[in-house]
Amino acid sequence: MLMPHLAEAKKRTKNKVMIKKYEIKDEFKKLGLGKTYFIKTYGCQMNVHDSENIKAILEQMGFKEVSSMDQADLVLLNTCAIRENAHNKVFGMIGRLKHMKEEKPNIITGICGCMAQEEVVVNEILDKYRFLDIVFGTHNINELPMILAKAMHQNKIEVDVKTIEGDIIENMPVKRDSKYKAWVNIMYGCDKFCTYCIVPYTRGKQRSRRFEDIINEVESLKKDGYKEVTLLGQNVNAYGKDLGLDYDMSDLLEGVANTGIERVRFVTSHPWDFTDKMIEVIGKYPNIMPYIHLPLQSGSDRILKLMGRKYTKESYLELFDKIKKTVPNASITTDIIVGFPGETEEDFLETLDVVNRCKYDSAFTFIFSPREGTPAAKMKDDTPLSVKEERLHRLNETVNKYALEANQKYLGKVVSVLLENVSEKDEGMLAGYTDTMKLVNVKAPKDMLGKIVDVKITDVKTWSMDGEIA
Ligand code: SAH
Ligand code: SF4
Ligand code: F3S
Repeated sequence: MLMPHLAEAKKRTKNKVMIKKYEIKDEFKKLGLGKTYFIKTYGCQMNVHDSENIKAILEQMGFKEVSSMDQADLVLLNTCAIRENAHNKVFGMIGRLKHMKEEKPNIITGICGCMAQEEVVVNEILDKYRFLDIVFGTHNINELPMILAKAMHQNKIEVDVKTIEGDIIENMPVKRDSKYKAWVNIMYGCDKFCTYCIVPYTRGKQRSRRFEDIINEVESLKKDGYKEVTLLGQNVNAYGKDLGLDYDMSDLLEGVANTGIERVRFVTSHPWDFTDKMIEVIGKYPNIMPYIHLPLQSGSDRILKLMGRKYTKESYLELFDKIKKTVPNASITTDIIVGFPGETEEDFLETLDVVNRCKYDSAFTFIFSPREGTPAAKMKDDTPLSVKEERLHRLNETVNKYALEANQKYLGKVVSVLLENVSEKDEGMLAGYTDTMKLVNVKAPKDMLGKIVDVKITDVKTWSMDGEIA
């Protein structure tokens, strides 16, 4: 049993990051033969991509994917710890797994991901949910075959969570959800330690992948027919800083753009490390998509300081304007937290003011959720929930108004869309995103899937648009 450890997870040392190669031993390759699996994924793109790795590992072991939990011999929950509601959803699902296990004692059940890295969570599991078979973390996905093998040979829960600052595992197998667009990790972990955020504890220290490993991955994706890559990291703008070499995110963006892949995206950009050179590169290469997610969190300098965000309202607005000037067609979206401990009505109005000035294309908005072990969880917070909810409501009304306005500018225009799915709203339509990350439902035949096409926008709503092939 290897337990997660909160105090250790907070530490950062100068220890060198090890780059390891994933390997699977032959003895594990038949363990899953004749068995099926189902993974439910919560949280951010990082988790979505981790699940793609987990699926490929399971398939190397002989497991086959099924589309419903009830048919599976192995059920894994890849969890997210970012807010309490994510946490509660997972515990609700663990309750459901318990019932499944009572009916079918032979199924294997487990949790992984960010919640598995939390000491409190694993303690609760050991206390109340010992029926689970495996618990593993974000640092040892590569060890899944061994962990599963152990669990299959014993009649008790196998907890295997490493609390380390983190290595880089190259050569991970991947079963991608899409044939047209791919996630590419460029860095792991986070060293920003925003005071409300649990990610630096669940994902370890910032570790950038080597430039050539990223470029090679993108080149092979391009060769396999992929049209779009999204470079992934908690703070992609800080790419390379930990390597102590002389290249940074702007060089990486140029390198990836120069592979000639048709569309390059990246998430998430912390305003802190956004350099002028990066903005120039985004403006210069037509295959770097004019879409930037630029989390604001708060518009109040006082709250930003308490959050440890290292920018001010003014410097944020300056950066915003600079991006809009150099990349005029850029769509910019954001994340905002309301009800941070001590947030007053005045502080909140500063946030609304930024929203009114930036007129975001869209925004993810959240009520502050105290996370165990983070500094903000210990801050005095005397704003009633009803006040926070009312602020969230006002914020959302403002955000939605600008989202619709931003979309209305598209009406009648021709835009390029990568058709990636059958539309969820209409079987006879395809769906995809514009370069600016607007969801469009398009009247088009299925054989156009995977193509980047010109689409004329015929109708717009707040969260999507309709169009037809131009
Ligand atoms: N690395 C990204 C954010 C990743 S988490 C960045 O720094 O921009 C995604 C979003 O969840 C954050 O931007 C923040 O708005 C929200 N979030 C994180 N911790 C939270 C908490 N404790 N309560 C409420 N929202 C939170
Ligand atoms: Fe969390 Fe801040 Fe890191 Fe984003 S930058 S993952 S909000 S600590
Ligand atoms: Fe959630 Fe972990 Fe992502 S906490 S938001 S899944 S990094």
